[in-house]
Amino acid sequence: MKKIEIPTQLSVYATLKELPADVQQLMQSAFTARDNAYAPYSNFQVGAAILMDNGEIITGSNQENASYPSGLCAERTAIYYAGAKYPNTGIKTMAISAKAMGKAITKPVPPCGACRQAIAEYEVKQKQSIALYFMGDSGEVFKSDSLENLLPLLFTQDYL
Ligand code: THU
Repeated sequence: MKKIEIPTQLSVYATLKELPADVQQLMQSAFTARDNAYAPYSNFQVGAAILMDNGEIITGSNQENASYPSGLCAERTAIYYAGAKYPNTGIKTMAISAKAMGKAITKPVPPCGACRQAIAEYEVKQKQSIALYFMGDSGEVFKSDSLENLLPLLFTQDYL
């Protein structure tokens, strides 16, 4: 038996103001998208904004359903729309923010496992890393340079 270590790395920004100006702007788009969430069951609103290689910003928010599993997270809403609208354009960066009714969200909210898998699929497809910035409503912002940092041992088409 041997053990392997899989290193991972994140950058931590103390506040939104520490981010480069263009990323601050992208996060502002995630804030705006968040307000369009349809989240009557969880009251947890998530917004995602994607910067494409062509400069366009695509946004998404979580869309819930009375049949709970039929709902979709903000990140997948956004990235599937990006893939559907621009199948041949690279995805550069995604910014994510979440807020809740009656509770301050001050810790960075990472994408769920299913969203990580979905985002990673596009990273593999385009052979170009996707930078991910995520935060709550305020407080620290975490940055991952690639999905590989958030999803080690990624399942890809290579296994099929
Ligand atoms: N949610 C997202 O939109 N993104 C995530 O990565 C985590 C969870 C949504 C799904 C559901 O509408 C609500 O947040 C509570 O789980």
